Amino acid sequence: MNIFGAVRKERFIKSKNKMEIIKTVFTVERTIRYALLSKKEKDEIYSLERKREIFIRNLPDITISHKIYLDKKGQERYGRIYPDQKPQRISQNTPLIKWVLRSSIPHSYGILLYLLISRLNKVAILELGTGIGVSTLYLLEAMKRTGGNLDSIEIWDAIAKLHMSLFKGHSNKKYNFFHARSQDVLSTLLQSKRSLDFVFHDGSHQYKDVLADMRIIMRLLKPAGIVVFDDINISTQMQAAWKEISLMQGVIYATTITAGDNKFPKMGLIVRGS
Ligand SMILES: C[S@@+](CC[C@H](N)C(=O)[O-])C[C@H]1O[C@@H](n2cnc3c(N)ncnc32)[C@H](O)[C@@H]1O
Repeated sequence: MNIFGAVRKERFIKSKNKMEIIKTVFTVERTIRYALLSKKEKDEIYSLERKREIFIRNLPDITISHKIYLDKKGQERYGRIYPDQKPQRISQNTPLIKWVLRSSIPHSYGILLYLLISRLNKVAILELGTGIGVSTLYLLEAMKRTGGNLDSIEIWDAIAKLHMSLFKGHSNKKYNFFHARSQDVLSTLLQSKRSLDFVFHDGSHQYKDVLADMRIIMRLLKPAGIVVFDDINISTQMQAAWKEISLMQGVIYATTITAGDNKFPKMGLIVRGS
């Protein structure tokens, strides 16, 4: 795993959580730069790869319909690239497996989420944009080490229903699934005075939505809490959103992450100061 084009912001830390924030930043750096693995972690990662494979191989043999957009090069993409972009067409029959392989996080990034949560012992976790649940597998696996709890949110009816049926066995008080819009759930969490240690944002990739989510997330996040954003380079909207987030008040550290074969950073990570 290597790091590419890191953005650093280490401001003077004046907080009673100073030591925890410093430890968090150092562990993040070590994990995303070197990911030196213990024997136990190597075994866990191997078994996670197998779990991911089996999960994807056993997906129901069905098709889904979704909007298709064109990028600058005329390539088909599954999400809007520019503000107010109209879809090129609606695919009526994309095989589910094709959609999952295109839209889920790759194994290398899943490992990264797993290592960050388990090494930092982050216990209150939130995921925005569950999809079918590939990223959820890594979060739930990390929780086996931390004993934490996870909330995950998905807006799309067909995909949410499918996720619920595939994750029936996981529905307990440690895993809560919300079939809803992220901003609505975030507002409810705020009202109930919840606080969060770790957020994985892979929901709406629209500039306005990402920033609206992030403004609430910052109010829910504990000092030294982490937010990881997926697809920061997928569109001009996401690039602009990431830039603004990395400079947001309260963000003490921001870095981009490149793993596996990616040439450009796929994810961005921020740490909240006090
Ligand atoms: C890229 S997919 C998620 C993939 C998943 N994280 C994984 O790696 O397996 C993005 C998902 O976010 C959902 N989504 C988009 N906007 C959302 C919103 N405002 N609230 C909740 N979910 C949203 C989409 O329906 C889609 O299923």
